[in-house]
Amino acid sequence: MIPVLIRGHNLETVYYRMLTKSSSITRGTVLIICRYCSNINSSKLTEILEKTRYRKKPPGGSRYLPEPNKVFHFNAWDNVQWNEEQEKAAKEKVELNSQLTFTEDRLKDLNINADKHWDAFYEIHQNRFFKDRHWLFTEFPELAPDNTTAPVRVYPSDGENTTTIQNGNKVSQAINNKRYIFEIGCGVGNTIFPILQYSTDPNLFIYGCDFSSKAIDIMTQNKLYDTNRCKVFVLDASKENWEVPFHEKSLDIIVLIFVLSAIDPTKMNIVINQVYKYLKSGGLVVFRDYGLYDLAQLRFKKGRCISNNFYARGDNTKVYFFTQEEISNLFKSAGFLEEQNLVDRRLQVNRGKMLTMYRVWIQGKYRKP
Ligand SMILES: C[S@@+](CC[C@H](N)C(=O)[O-])C[C@H]1O[C@@H](n2cnc3c(N)ncnc32)[C@H](O)[C@@H]1O
Repeated sequence: MIPVLIRGHNLETVYYRMLTKSSSITRGTVLIICRYCSNINSSKLTEILEKTRYRKKPPGGSRYLPEPNKVFHFNAWDNVQWNEEQEKAAKEKVELNSQLTFTEDRLKDLNINADKHWDAFYEIHQNRFFKDRHWLFTEFPELAPDNTTAPVRVYPSDGENTTTIQNGNKVSQAINNKRYIFEIGCGVGNTIFPILQYSTDPNLFIYGCDFSSKAIDIMTQNKLYDTNRCKVFVLDASKENWEVPFHEKSLDIIVLIFVLSAIDPTKMNIVINQVYKYLKSGGLVVFRDYGLYDLAQLRFKKGRCISNNFYARGDNTKVYFFTQEEISNLFKSAGFLEEQNLVDRRLQVNRGKMLTMYRVWIQGKYRKP
């Protein structure tokens, strides 16, 4: 089939055929080409799609969009700058969806049953929803097995291992060379399992918690769950007191990946203060979460807003969208030193449907002095 170009209004509609990613079946699709592509003709487009089927990330892991009209050459572009017009449109969209319409009873349910709503989520999706975080080691080399910039370990003066009982839990004291990582809101293990798979370090031990008992059940049934190398348990991290199988000041790294956003903004400081308490001096927090005006925020319809930049999804799980400043203030006021605070703006492209999607994530590293 020869591509046909149909012009209409100020958009270009192209009838074209392409090879699907999974097979070599050809198919015809009607597409709307956004303004970025207006100077790509249809045969050129077909050529681009086919030429770039096998697309590898360049060395260094980032790919920058050299010219706007090359947007459909690859699936994703890193560090895409927003212009004023785009920022203004996003702000207006958020203002539109920020009207508060939940009743007191609904708000109470969202709050009291937050863990149950996540249980229901995992009941449906099991371990199929979140993808393994294989980007972890690029963003956070501290988590990589051969990491050389890991937080300095603090060795106690007497060199013996001890075990004590705290809140009914067996607690091993870190009087050895072990490195302890703790992930809060570990879900079904999409961060913990990649770390365990990449690392064979016998001195690495990973703890994980989630307030969804369903998530913890699913995780412990996974064949990758190895009790010699990790332990996960149910914990609501927004509580003032934690019942955990380790001591205060005993952890090397705490991982907060897409979890703080699920917690009520009025309780976020409790979480960060607890994190501070359980990290060793010199220990590190690695953080990544949703940023203000991320696609997921702009997609909310009216009636889902709980408070500023905080929403309930259709399945009643909650999500907050952060600014860099908010993250900085949260950690600094708990006593942390800021080592990294960046906004990662990525343009994701659905080349099949010719859609562009702007993702915004905030990433940070905070060290306990
Ligand atoms: C968006 S998911 C992210 C899961 C995982 N960190 C990942 O990136 O794949 C948020 C997770 O945080 C958990 N969560 C939400 N509030 C929590 C709380 N107060 N304490 C512990 N876990 C919580 C949810 O049950 C859910 O598993």
